[in-house]
Amino acid sequence: MQKLNLAVFISGAGSNLRAIIEACKDANYPAQISIVIANKNEAKGIEFAKENNIPYKIIPHKNFANRAEFEQEILDEINKYEIDLLCLAGFMRVLSNHFLENFKQDIINIHPSLLPKYKGVDAIGQALRDGAEETGCTIHYVVPEVDSGEIILKRRVTIEKDDDSDSLLKKINKEEHIAYVEAIMKIAKTKKITDNAFHE
Ligand code: GRF
Repeated sequence: MQKLNLAVFISGAGSNLRAIIEACKDANYPAQISIVIANKNEAKGIEFAKENNIPYKIIPHKNFANRAEFEQEILDEINKYEIDLLCLAGFMRVLSNHFLENFKQDIINIHPSLLPKYKGVDAIGQALRDGAEETGCTIHYVVPEVDSGEIILKRRVTIEKDDDSDSLLKKINKEEHIAYVEAIMKIAKTKKITDNAFHE
């Protein structure tokens, strides 16, 4: 079966990474993970890559004098693989325009709100402070302006009166895992079978 080669970038718990890994275990799922990149030594999610024998590389941003050098190291690493789709899954660094221009394939991100609402940091806190009745998660293409690229899909979550940031985060996370797996599937379907980007 032809599959999209994914690079997944993480910074923390990696629960979205785990959801993608689990989906990729299905022979009929149209994607496979080629490389996982973490920008922090303590990113727990890297364990999921290890457990599943997926290549991974920890590239701590703190080890670099500037963003350009950090990003070049990432580009050098992912260019070893024929990546078709870069998935940001809780990756807490903003990628520069230079990176976006130099990585030719699509990049997607997950954000814990129903974009365009509550862009930027603490989207869950923003929704709670706003007294919103619902929020959710969005998978979108990455463009230079943060949290602003074309939306691929969203999943909704109802905010109950007794929800706090912990309970809401749990509800959103659950939907995120479904959303990420669906979004990759949706993208794979729109790629033409003749596309060089596909791999046997
Ligand atoms: C998710 O809530 C995502 O929306 C945000 O970072 C979190 C990552 O969670 N961008 P995990 O590391 O995948 O568990």
